[in-house]
Amino acid sequence: MNIWLWILVAVVAFLVGVAIYDVLQKRHAILRTFPIIGHLRFLLERFGPELRQYIVTNNDEERPFSRDQRRWVYASAKRQNSYFGFGSDNHFDEHDYIFIRHSAFPATAPSEGPVAVAKVMGQWRNRPGAFRPESITNVSAMSFGSLSGPAIEALNRGSKIANCLHNTGEGGISKHHRHGGGLIFQIGTGYFGARDDTGKFSLDVLLESMKDAPVRAIEVKLSQGAKPGLGGLLPGAKVTNEIAEARGVPVGITVASPSSHEEFHDVETLVDFVESIAEATGLPVGIKSAIGQVDFWADLAAHMATHNRGPDFITVDGGEGGTGAAPQVFADHVSVPFREGFSAVFSAFANVGLQDDIVFIGAGRLGFASDAVVAMGLGVDMINVAREAMLAVGCIQAQKCHTGHCPTGVATQQRWLVRGLDPTDKSVRLANYIDALNHEMVKVATATGVSHPALIDPANIEIRNGDGQLHSVTEHYGLRAEWFGDARRSKLESALTD
Ligand SMILES: Cc1cc2nc3c(=O)[nH]c(=O)nc-3n(C[C@H](O)[C@H](O)[C@H](O)COP(=O)(O)O)c2cc1C
Ligand code: SF4
Repeated sequence: MNIWLWILVAVVAFLVGVAIYDVLQKRHAILRTFPIIGHLRFLLERFGPELRQYIVTNNDEERPFSRDQRRWVYASAKRQNSYFGFGSDNHFDEHDYIFIRHSAFPATAPSEGPVAVAKVMGQWRNRPGAFRPESITNVSAMSFGSLSGPAIEALNRGSKIANCLHNTGEGGISKHHRHGGGLIFQIGTGYFGARDDTGKFSLDVLLESMKDAPVRAIEVKLSQGAKPGLGGLLPGAKVTNEIAEARGVPVGITVASPSSHEEFHDVETLVDFVESIAEATGLPVGIKSAIGQVDFWADLAAHMATHNRGPDFITVDGGEGGTGAAPQVFADHVSVPFREGFSAVFSAFANVGLQDDIVFIGAGRLGFASDAVVAMGLGVDMINVAREAMLAVGCIQAQKCHTGHCPTGVATQQRWLVRGLDPTDKSVRLANYIDALNHEMVKVATATGVSHPALIDPANIEIRNGDGQLHSVTEHYGLRAEWFGDARRSKLESALTD
């Protein structure tokens, strides 16, 4: 046979071998779904930094997550080397740049194991199901429907390994949520998983949905940062048997989520709703919201302080938060960024003396130690991660979530795309990432001389102002220093040793 024919046969045999290996292996979703061609992505990932350094963007330019940030998540998730060489390439003189003042006498703390939250969720209202969350970092609300079944399964299994909480999102509890990870059941305006046949909220259906699922708390969603004040439609084509079952809606029929709740319309009725669910379930109940008009928060705090009732936890989502799909004007402009929004909410509760009773959860690109530590310096107790968790289970920031064609099988329901994602392998990656973030925060805490991120004195976290000077983050975001003084610190310290 002609030598060229032999070479051709060898090349074809090699490619067939690679294709078979790609389709059968479970480590890389991209290769399982796109055999052979998927290797291009890894080649580009390998040599992309060198190419882009001269041609396209620098390490910190891309949004929502820069290359450095993605690299840190991927490396942490795979327990690979997540260090950076040759020092920082950031501009230290930039406006809003964060500096953390370390101590001459750093503390020590364990480098592994869960990093529990200082506060007990539900303690303020003596809920029978009050508990101390075992991980500062937790998985933020993302529904089955916006994410694939295997992605939800990976998040749930990973949450079990990491001892963190997995928020269901507003799509109810599916079979993919039942792999042992503790749940926060989210109730949105569509009341999915908690609605009767007419679409109205039903406590009985809620209790039925929660049966046999490890639900630790319930979150009533007022809004999310990427699309606050906006309802949504789930097209009939996406309402598969499994999605219909989890949400309690008919298969194949378009369902609408209204822009606001039918069950309440002001502070008093909102608090009534929260209390009725807490009474029926015995669990801590919280609310989640993006921050727009701030009067609401002052009214809510005043009402709670006067009547001694209301949500056990408050999740604040920054305007920079993510979604499966949203109109651009909402994603880009409606609701304020996390730090400004959270500071307004914390101030409202601190003004009435409730800041140490409520558990505050923050979300909005907080899945990196520096951002998480700043959030904790502003008064956050727990960090929720959504897109960073997606990165950990294989998302490559292709930003096609709204098209249904997610190449990694994370945010799609298409069977041939979804089959690429192996939930068992990816669950370990999520757990590794959660653990890495918790412990990177602990490392920062010890560098400042304390053993737990909740104890970091916010006076030691500074930001460069527009005037070029460094100011403490609390001062910069309008929070009073006395809210973070010795009294608060000793309360947290004794809670941590309980
Ligand atoms: C795919 C996707 C689906 C989401 N679904 C919900 C949801 O059902 N309910 C909700 O309150 N927030 C939802 N969010 C918002 C996240 O829970 C989170 O608040 C926001 O993305 C900010 O966190 P991040 O910056 O870590 O992504 C979703 C986000 C994404 C990316
Ligand atoms: S479409 Fe892209 S950004 Fe969205 S989940 Fe998939 S890989 Fe990630």
